Amino acid sequence: MALNDALSFFGTEVLKKERWEKRRWPYYLILPLSFLIVLWVAVKKGICLVMYGCTPRMNSLFFDGLGRVCREIKEGAASWKALDLIYGYSSTGNLVDDFWVNMMNAQAVRNRLEMVKGYLMDSSLEVARDGQEVRIMSLACGSAQAVIEILVTLKQLGIPARAMLIDRDSTALDYAAKMARNRGIDVELVLASVSQVKKYSQDFQPQIIEMVGLMDYLSSQKAKELTQLIHTSLPEGGWYITANIISNIERWFLYWVINWQMVYRQPEELREIVDEVFGSPCCDLKLDPLGIHAVVIARK
Ligand SMILES: C[S@@+](CC[C@H](N)C(=O)[O-])C[C@H]1O[C@@H](n2cnc3c(N)ncnc32)[C@H](O)[C@@H]1O
Repeated sequence: MALNDALSFFGTEVLKKERWEKRRWPYYLILPLSFLIVLWVAVKKGICLVMYGCTPRMNSLFFDGLGRVCREIKEGAASWKALDLIYGYSSTGNLVDDFWVNMMNAQAVRNRLEMVKGYLMDSSLEVARDGQEVRIMSLACGSAQAVIEILVTLKQLGIPARAMLIDRDSTALDYAAKMARNRGIDVELVLASVSQVKKYSQDFQPQIIEMVGLMDYLSSQKAKELTQLIHTSLPEGGWYITANIISNIERWFLYWVINWQMVYRQPEELREIVDEVFGSPCCDLKLDPLGIHAVVIARK
């Protein structure tokens, strides 16, 4: 296969339609029960706080009580560990886990992973077409699953590529390093805050900076400041990939039952943050098929 054919083949392969998850109806049917669980957990938390000054060990029998993976996700809520459990979930026969680890928000986060891989692949191929080595920097990388999978594909294509993974949690970096080793690729690890992006970019010179799963926890002011830092860290023509969760019907379940608090933004708000720094209209914004995550790619 000629390199150009191979490039377009792998580009489309990454975004195969059958990978999208969009099972809505079981979760819409169960909505009245979900709201009852939310209500019960809210009351239970209030009672525990007033009587014992703490939160309950178990939120709901029908989530972290009977679901082992659900419990681990609740305990690691908002962390890379919880996301990794959701990305890699396969049934263990526990019905509670099977139901909730496939809820719409879990499906959407796996869709987001596919979309990020698609954008990473597209931008990497553009860089490779210019005859350059591909350099991807992943900020708040967590398990860095998307970046690692793209590096594996680029290696199969014979395209020189490197990745620098930055996270402030050493357990995330250890895990990502192990995953990369198992897949036969090298990555550079940096234990640091994302606010150091400019410093590390000076040496590494990334053409692509990916930061997914962090905007969901930042105020708009912080998100704008960080976007500005990322912009100054990229060369002319460099790419920035990011995402944000959108308000959805399951958000109160996430908040009360899973203890997972996030900053929900409408797609226009995310676009505004990126456009304000990268200049309008220079970003492509897509929603996952369930409309729960907005993923953006912007070019400097
Ligand atoms: C929700 S996880 C997202 C992981 C990964 N990007 C993904 O999408 O699967 C958030 C990650 O951001 C990291 N993080 C949070 N604040 C950070 C900061 N200021 N600097 C570096 N990493 C940070 C956490 O340690 C965690 O690994």
